[in-house]
Amino acid sequence: MSQKAILRLGTVKNVASFKEHLHSLGLTIPCDDELLKGPASPLRQPLVSGDIKIGNRIVVHPMEGWDGSPDGNPSENTIRRWRRFGRSGGKLIWGGEAVAVSHEGRANPNQLMAAAHTQEGLSRLRATLIEEHRLTTGTDDGLSIGLQLTDSGRYSRPNAHGRPEPRILYHHPFLDRRLGLPAEFPVLTDAEIEAIIDNFHRAAMMAWKLGFDFVDIKHCHGYLGHEFLSAHTRVGRYGGSFENRTRFLREVVQGIRSIAPGLKIAVRLSAIDSVPFHPDPAKSSNEKPGEGIPEPYENEIPYRWGFGVNRLEPTESDLNEPVHFLALLEKLGIRMVNITAGSPYYNPHLQRPALYPPSDGYLPPEDPLVSVARQMGATQRLKQQFPSLIFVGTGYSYLQDFLPHVAQAALREGWVDLVGLGRMVLTYPELLWDAAEGRTIERKRICRTFSDCTTAPRKGLPSGCYPLDSFYKDSELMTQLTLAKKH
Ligand SMILES: Cc1cc2nc3c(=O)[nH]c(=O)nc-3n(C[C@H](O)[C@H](O)[C@H](O)COP(=O)(O)O)c2cc1C
Ligand code: SF4
Repeated sequence: MSQKAILRLGTVKNVASFKEHLHSLGLTIPCDDELLKGPASPLRQPLVSGDIKIGNRIVVHPMEGWDGSPDGNPSENTIRRWRRFGRSGGKLIWGGEAVAVSHEGRANPNQLMAAAHTQEGLSRLRATLIEEHRLTTGTDDGLSIGLQLTDSGRYSRPNAHGRPEPRILYHHPFLDRRLGLPAEFPVLTDAEIEAIIDNFHRAAMMAWKLGFDFVDIKHCHGYLGHEFLSAHTRVGRYGGSFENRTRFLREVVQGIRSIAPGLKIAVRLSAIDSVPFHPDPAKSSNEKPGEGIPEPYENEIPYRWGFGVNRLEPTESDLNEPVHFLALLEKLGIRMVNITAGSPYYNPHLQRPALYPPSDGYLPPEDPLVSVARQMGATQRLKQQFPSLIFVGTGYSYLQDFLPHVAQAALREGWVDLVGLGRMVLTYPELLWDAAEGRTIERKRICRTFSDCTTAPRKGLPSGCYPLDSFYKDSELMTQLTLAKKH
């Protein structure tokens, strides 16, 4: 599909036209004509399941800002972002943002870290969020706050923005090339993996002591936890069979259960994926990347470097193994799962559907609504198979003005248990709260998927909504981003 064919959702006048547009694309995305308000709104319904109590169905996805201090503590920018997370009115804060369990596993030199010297800072983030949340909703009853624990694995850059220091589990035919890794580049040893698992235990213990309700053992977006799941070609205890590829998760969970028994555990999972994409060189120029095309995978079939990927046609997903994975979560007593897709590094159109590509991306190879429908559809199918797991859905920000209508319908029709917001929180945190309160939606605050929040960190700058949030728009940072984009 060419870029010209993509209809800008900001120009779609009303819900009826939006539904017609979905129909013309042949997509099934639930969408309500009218928004319900107050206690009648599905967005406002509490969720109670066993010892899990969440006061409404609005979730804030983890959103990293690349703005912590070099020692892994939050900065004033970080605190501002968490305050806005609280202002969203969402009762489930899924992890806040990726927090590295060690310095070596940081995705950038400004990523937050869980360590003895950052405890106070992390505690302040939580307290600020709760304070602001009370101002929006009147109470912190039913508020559940997690911390997303991560090791960045292949995407580690702990010491300098321009210096990748990858920690890989296996050699990948396409992703190694992108990082310029030679065949003899060392993979993490089993002993190194065990040390990483210990770091997860230590970080979880800290989260528990600080009063966080749960930790997310991150298994998405190409970072270490996710890379384990596709380590088909790795030899030894952590690779090959499904049992070995999930050993990391099991060992992390086992340790946490023994040292922090009251702490809940959740998992964010890239349940679907594809072969990496890159801009079509035939359609790219210095100023503009072409449409995304898959890496030439014909000589790599059956494809052995993915999870949730069809081995014979790796541009397509396959839910077979993700279903086994969710069955394992159930067995381990993990009740909350946040479904996402792919990776922002190698297939951003799958992961965060957008009209405008980030600086290291490509023009959308399909209407971004197709990408939204794919994530929503995968989540719906998994929810059907695992009715007692609590599912958070992802990829809604591209829906823009129609996000509340789709979120309400998805909840009402049981596609998902809770709706998560990523980019929209950076620009308009209260969107779903306003919708459920029956307030007029402020159209000028709606995220139009310009992708500057992804481009900025790619250029070594803090993330944030540069085009729409006056904090960035009117600052020196905006000038720096404009200059950086030219180079
Ligand atoms: C700037 C930025 C930072 C992000 N940081 C994280 C993160 O730390 N952890 C994570 O799991 N996902 C992260 N994501 C992905 C989002 O949580 C979300 O999955 C994605 O933006 C798609 O949801 P949306 O359509 O509502 O934006 C980030 C996304 C953006 C744009
Ligand atoms: S920079 Fe702002 S408008 Fe653009 S995608 Fe990010 S949040 Fe949305």
